[in-house]
Amino acid sequence: MLTKPAITQADIHELLAHRWSPRALDGEKAVSHAQVLSLLEAARWAPSCFGAEPWRFIMCERQQNEAAWQQAFSCLAEANQVWAKNAPVLLLAIALNEFTLNGNPNRWAQYDTGAAVENICLQAVALGLVAHQMGGFDADKAKAAFNLPDNITAMAMVAVGYQASPDSLGEELKQREIAERKRLPLTELCFDGQWQKPIQTA
Ligand SMILES: Cc1cc2nc3c(=O)[nH]c(=O)nc-3n(C[C@H](O)[C@H](O)[C@H](O)COP(=O)(O)O)c2cc1C
Repeated sequence: MLTKPAITQADIHELLAHRWSPRALDGEKAVSHAQVLSLLEAARWAPSCFGAEPWRFIMCERQQNEAAWQQAFSCLAEANQVWAKNAPVLLLAIALNEFTLNGNPNRWAQYDTGAAVENICLQAVALGLVAHQMGGFDADKAKAAFNLPDNITAMAMVAVGYQASPDSLGEELKQREIAERKRLPLTELCFDGQWQKPIQTA
């Protein structure tokens, strides 16, 4: 299995370092319902503004509900369908635009939903699974396909499965799969007490 641990400027937990977004998935290896529940439970325990828990998920397990899986799959951009066709599970992550308590707009809902999905990604690493987020999908189509209410935002699809060899991908995707992972340096991202004053990293 190809691993691409983060090359870090400071120590981080190995769970974080080993999370990445492979596209080579094993279409033959099933993900159990217990594993999917574990991923969703991880999302459940994410922090949220006012404890509003503004995330919702549509779970589409191919083995259990082929029709739902096909609905989700049909919403994906073609560039994602090429590889996500091997994902035994697709999750649709949804943000509630308003606080359920009082109906006021919740400007942190998308932020919180992203945190919940990151929990899914990290729990997937802990379980030896892959969770690969996709913004490349037709959100309006997903809204219609799953009969979602107006006051939500369909944020991302997440492909879940077991990793496969990069050789299972076409040449272009294979090159992307094996490419080095890159990040901006800490000094470009983090400032010392004022905007754009780089932190010291040594
Ligand atoms: C909100 C979001 C949307 C993304 N959309 C796609 C996508 O449509 N297709 C895809 O292959 N990867 C997608 N990705 C994965 C990113 O390309 C990937 O996280 C990024 O390149 C960093 O690589 P890493 O996750 O391996 O560290 C998405 C990631 C996020 C967080």
